[in-house]
Amino acid sequence: MTALRALCFAALASATPLTWADEAPARTALLPAYTTECGACHVPFPSRLLPAASWQRLMDNLPRHYGTDASLEAPVAREIGVWLQSHAATGRRAEEAPPQERITRSAWFVREHDEVPAADWKRPAIGKPSNCAACHTRAAEGRFGEREIRIPR
Ligand code: HEC
Ligand code: HEC
Repeated sequence: MTALRALCFAALASATPLTWADEAPARTALLPAYTTECGACHVPFPSRLLPAASWQRLMDNLPRHYGTDASLEAPVAREIGVWLQSHAATGRRAEEAPPQERITRSAWFVREHDEVPAADWKRPAIGKPSNCAACHTRAAEGRFGEREIRIPR
């Protein structure tokens, strides 16, 4: 598991291009344990993009996490779970619990990304919609601003 995570992380780090300095206001800081544990195989998805109930179901099912085992020691799972509950979506995004707890299947996500042609998602440099960092160059830091998007060719 540890080796796999290290590998995932290395792949992600090398795939994340450098970009210009950012002027957007600072966001809520990510919980360090969240970045480490939940950013090992993919970017640490922003907590505000899923409702609290979705995070709860996801945290209750870590041994069966999208075909992989993302289990954590109980104390760290609890720490992350509590943090996700208090930093989950608010407002309209809190009302929609997407299928499979997938951010990428939320109505707002589909709408927000409708300018990306279907064929683009399948490019080798992207692969799947959950690969946020392919286009959001600062996704690893939790930043998804419009100026930080670059769709790879
Ligand atoms: C061992 C690797 C691994 C770890 C660790 C891991 N994940 Fe995942 N995660 C995956 C895989 C694989 C997918 C499915 C990617 C796909 O097919 O789109 C996924 C998908 C997701 C999705 C759905 C993305 C979408 O919208 O399609 C969420 C949300 C998520 N993970 C949250 C977490 C959280 C929270 C943690 C930490 C508790 C975590 N992950 C830890 C491997 C991992
Ligand atoms: C194929 C490239 C691509 C991928 C992969 C991708 N996005 Fe995007 N994203 C875009 C584009 C293009 C926009 C539209 C920007 C605009 O309207 O100006 C966007 C917009 C957004 C916005 C709204 C930004 C704003 O300030 O208006 C959010 C939030 C977002 N994406 C989150 C995500 C998340 C989370 C993931 C991964 C789960 C993801 N995106 C994957 C290309 C991508």
